[in-house]
Amino acid sequence: MNVEIRNLTKQFGDLTAVDDISLTIEAGEFLTLVGPSGCGKSTMLRCITGLEIPTSGSILFDGVDVTDKSPQERRVAMVFQNYALYPHMTGHRNMTFALEDEGIAQEEIDTRISETAEMLGIEDHLDKKPEELSGGQKQRVALGRSLVRNPDVILMDEPLSNLDAKLRIELRAELQKIHQDLGTTTVYVTHDQEEAMTMSDRIAVLNDGVIQQLSSPEDAYNRPVNRFVAEFIGSPSMNFFHCEQQSGTLTAGPFTFDVPGTLEGTPIELGVRPEDILLTSNPQQDRAHGTVNVFEHIGPYNIVYVNVSGVGEVAAQVPAGQYFEVGDEVALSVRNNRVHLFGGDGIALYNPPLPSGREETQSAQTRTDNY
Ligand SMILES: Nc1ncnc2c1ncn2[C@@H]1O[C@H](COP(=O)(O)OP(=O)(O)OP(=O)(O)O)[C@@H](O)[C@H]1O
Ligand SMILES: [Mg+2]
Repeated sequence: MNVEIRNLTKQFGDLTAVDDISLTIEAGEFLTLVGPSGCGKSTMLRCITGLEIPTSGSILFDGVDVTDKSPQERRVAMVFQNYALYPHMTGHRNMTFALEDEGIAQEEIDTRISETAEMLGIEDHLDKKPEELSGGQKQRVALGRSLVRNPDVILMDEPLSNLDAKLRIELRAELQKIHQDLGTTTVYVTHDQEEAMTMSDRIAVLNDGVIQQLSSPEDAYNRPVNRFVAEFIGSPSMNFFHCEQQSGTLTAGPFTFDVPGTLEGTPIELGVRPEDILLTSNPQQDRAHGTVNVFEHIGPYNIVYVNVSGVGEVAAQVPAGQYFEVGDEVALSVRNNRVHLFGGDGIALYNPPLPSGREETQSAQTRTDNY
């Protein structure tokens, strides 16, 4: 089932929570709405569910206008952050409840419950009440309750954010697998950009009720359309430097770059991802240098924050095994001129070619040199 959102606006008094958004979620797609707190994600989801009446605009399921239909009539299932299970009912009862309401035969109910419980690995917990379940188990039951209804569309509002980090990553993978198996159109809300990046076919990055970018996660990361997206997607965030252009040269703090041939417009800010900042010890006079402020040991890679005079703090991602100590003097350079350029209005004027060389034909030699 595809979901078409046409010119959706939702106002609460003077506040415009969703501002004239149009977007089509394809049948079977996993689309994620991501953005900072208060940007309108939940409101948009609640409009799709039917829990909120839009101020203007319309919502169509497979071409049928459902804007005035109740949540039940829409055949959607919603999963919430706080599970929203009935506390006095067992897991089993929580899952069957809505089905009986829909008048589904007992045999069919039993089949659906056992299949879904197996898929979610909660067969042994169905007799327990929510208070006897861990957070992860509760969320699995809540998910099960949605899935047994065979909804046309599943809507999830930060379903993993009450769980600890390890469980979140585990369930994230399970949700992806379930989506691959069932192929149900899914709209997922999170403010966690990493979740959005790992799970989605496409992401819509929202700010102030407006979609900033609707694209594949890779494009949002590699080709942000503006400074907001560039800063929001990626952790740690892209480093930004004020920059000036003089004839063929861009100067940003201690760095200088050739102006890219395809640049249109005048950049005032230059962005570099932490993984494109290279650090070496033994700073030389003619290169950018600074002092290590913080060293974060992550494992597969490490993050180093370097204080660069005249620029401020710069985040660099260094390979596992490259260690620095606080106070170390280091030299900085930018990998292969991998800079993003932004104009005065924050619009991206230039993004570097994809690092994998997918777009352009790089020789194997060049790739090895750079990576
Ligand atoms: N029922 C309501 N009455 C008044 N204002 C509301 C109501 N619901 C949401 N808002 C406002 O609309 C804006 C968008 O809220 P929404 O809940 O959609 O944000 P969100 O992106 O889901 O944020 P979060 O990540 O914190 O959940 C916020 O400024 C919020 O205060
Ligand atoms: Mg919300």
